[in-house]
Amino acid sequence: MPQAAHYAESHLMDLLASFGMDVPYVRAERNTLFYRDGDGAEVPVLDLVGGFGSLILGHNPPEIRARVQELLDTQAPVHIQLSRNDTADQVGQLLNKIIQREFPDTEDYRIVYGNSGAEAVEIALKHAELDRLMRVSELFQALDWNASQALAAVKDGRATLPDDPSALPDGIQLPTDAVEFERLLGELTAHNAALAAQSPVYFALEGGFHGKLVGSVQVSHSPAVRVPFAALGFEAVFVPPNRLDVLQHLVDEKRATALDVTVTDGRVRVVTRDFPVFGGFLLEPVQGEGGIHVLPEDLLSGLKLICEGAGCPVVVDEIQTGMGRTGAFLAASHHGFPPDYLLLGKSLGGGVAKVSATLIRSSRYRPVFDLMHSSTFAKDGFSTEIALSTLRLLEADDGRVYRLARERGARITDALRGVAADFPDVLREIRGTGLLIGVEFAPRNDSPSTTIREKSRGGLLSFLSAGYLLRAHGVRVVPTGSDLNVLRIEPSVHISDQEIAQLEAGVRDLCLILRNGDARPLIEA
Ligand code: F0G
Repeated sequence: MPQAAHYAESHLMDLLASFGMDVPYVRAERNTLFYRDGDGAEVPVLDLVGGFGSLILGHNPPEIRARVQELLDTQAPVHIQLSRNDTADQVGQLLNKIIQREFPDTEDYRIVYGNSGAEAVEIALKHAELDRLMRVSELFQALDWNASQALAAVKDGRATLPDDPSALPDGIQLPTDAVEFERLLGELTAHNAALAAQSPVYFALEGGFHGKLVGSVQVSHSPAVRVPFAALGFEAVFVPPNRLDVLQHLVDEKRATALDVTVTDGRVRVVTRDFPVFGGFLLEPVQGEGGIHVLPEDLLSGLKLICEGAGCPVVVDEIQTGMGRTGAFLAASHHGFPPDYLLLGKSLGGGVAKVSATLIRSSRYRPVFDLMHSSTFAKDGFSTEIALSTLRLLEADDGRVYRLARERGARITDALRGVAADFPDVLREIRGTGLLIGVEFAPRNDSPSTTIREKSRGGLLSFLSAGYLLRAHGVRVVPTGSDLNVLRIEPSVHISDQEIAQLEAGVRDLCLILRNGDARPLIEA
């Protein structure tokens, strides 16, 4: 029986093996992963990948482990589909309490559970589209009613025919009698029906990332991630993050206008009404997978105004930036405006469970969605209990975790900026916020080292560097998915001064190697 080297992601494993990153970890605690050396002894590794942002409390946090043990010991029910899950409501209640604190006087939010971040995005897209279609239906009901009232008024002499052609599309004439007026109403209905047949408009930011499932991948900007699957979904409209003027232009260009009739003071008028063509605008307050880019402060407030004017809901994706990572519960908290949709995931699972949450303003929520979306594992008894415990840990001691994220993040950033100051030719920028930090390396496409030069040109230098840091310094990092020149630093709030010093020493050593253009340590270590 042939034995494959790897049955799971064998190509990726081969790539990782070429950089010495195919390490089988056997234990994890706080910021440390452990593998076994040839003698079977545990070797510690400082893990700064942090589950791609899923470990704000670290690997296997003691409090979460105790809660898991308790749930198992008491045979807590996990699969309780189509029953009442009070814990799920307690999570919703606590999240609303937090949101109220972050955004005072905001209405409350309904919560829909998913299993992964991308699922939370899919849920938001599905609900936004259902909401949009219901708004279209409500508009058409109003238009039909208005048309019937106007026709009746014209037929029984209570209203005169419309005499202002300004709202009429080209080619449609004003009526001269009730028969022609009825024909006109038919043409207005056909015009409106054509709008309903158009594809909706979903905006997302260039550089943004929202997951790799079939719907969510359509709003993830990276062509490498999205384009091969474009035929499976809708075409999102991508907007440059620093160009509100472009967004306003696109909104004006894509705005759709329905035609309505009113009867005022005995006169029929043809008027225009906004047609709900905009489904939503998705954004991350800090673009993580796209290379750790903090959005400009004024962008969100300006974007919110434009979207409000267009009737376009704003979906703030905090799957990576939420749960305290940026030094507040939400990154949007720093911008002061509550979104229409708020997405959470990753760290919501306490480092041990898979759970995500799509929060939707109650005034926007469509109750029928409860009956239209589900999944076997979502809102299960285990993950909702862990989410509740995790949120309580974040909120404890008046938000000590958020203060720690700010203080630890600043300390890491300062240490790395000290290295960047000594190696401005190697490190382009240290950026991010809280414990979401990116280290951008300058390309080495002209390095005297053939290895460094070729890896740089192939976009793989960051993997060569990560493999070196792992082997020579016991520090585990990886590049961001869509910007391979950026190493992401996403530790838990428990990162120690000694661990920060370990990271700093490793990056400093790597910079010297890259500056000297001698690849041997990168390969031999
Ligand atoms: N939204 C954001 C902002 C994310 O960062 C991610 C995942 C997702 C959605 C999808 O979540 O992986 O649980 O389905 N980010 C990872 C990263 C992949 O590389 O930062 P998922």
